[in-house]
Amino acid sequence: MTSPIFTLPARAGIGLKPEHVAGLLEARPSLAFVEVHAENYMGAGGPPHRQLATIREVYPLSVHGVGLSLGGDEPLDLDHLEALAGVVERYEPEQVSEHLAWCRIDGHYLNDLLPIPYTDYSLNLICDHIDQTQTRLKRRILIENPAATLSYAESTMRESDFLIAMVKQSGCGLLLDVNNLFVSDSNLAIGAEDYIAALPGEAIGEIHLAGHHLKQIGNAEIRIDDHGSTVAPEVWSLYRDVIARFGRRPTLIEWDTDVPDLEVLLAEARTADRHAEFASLGGHADVFAS
Ligand SMILES: [Fe+2]
Repeated sequence: MTSPIFTLPARAGIGLKPEHVAGLLEARPSLAFVEVHAENYMGAGGPPHRQLATIREVYPLSVHGVGLSLGGDEPLDLDHLEALAGVVERYEPEQVSEHLAWCRIDGHYLNDLLPIPYTDYSLNLICDHIDQTQTRLKRRILIENPAATLSYAESTMRESDFLIAMVKQSGCGLLLDVNNLFVSDSNLAIGAEDYIAALPGEAIGEIHLAGHHLKQIGNAEIRIDDHGSTVAPEVWSLYRDVIARFGRRPTLIEWDTDVPDLEVLLAEARTADRHAEFASLGGHADVFAS
């Protein structure tokens, strides 16, 4: 795949929520793009399609899949792949992305994105699935790093090495979820700074930012990426590190639970743009420490 790694504007966008459609169409605030979950638009018609068709005329679009189970140890669900292709052909989004995860076993879908072991076997498996998807969609897709609370003893490589090999072998791009990276680093000490330094910046086509929460389990404190609050200060700091190293990228504010008023999402997007502008100009991170 030789197309540019990103064609969305390298500024902040928001996830599209049905309750915000009317407000967006009325005020038409400046946004780099909106992102939708592909699975919400796999039906034939109805209000979701009417809304998205109208929004699509106003804003650039990113389609984010959550159900293809690219990391699953069984053939892709061809019906699901066809449904994804239908959404992509209908809306012609600037970008399409999916997950480094699995969510389907014996034909049954699980209501979660589950991690995969980082082995040569799973690398070849997911690269075959990515290749099949990219061939059907006739475009490169971006693959998002997971938020992990556990790791597999059988893994033989670090997550960053797995991503590097996956990009090289499949020709896909990366969707770097900075909140996921911070959550994984907090839970599993995977070394966020080394992780970022190792990534091929030219493969990063989009960034996700979101909120998370702390959960006490026995004596342990783990972080859960619930996408239900503002971006944490530590995540903003990592985001600035990414932008300072690789330059600005299309950046999504993800907010999927306890969805706030549109104004709150727009304010968070503007904050992301401020951080990115500051970092891209070589600003010192301490200014945003408070
Ligand atoms: Fe994400």
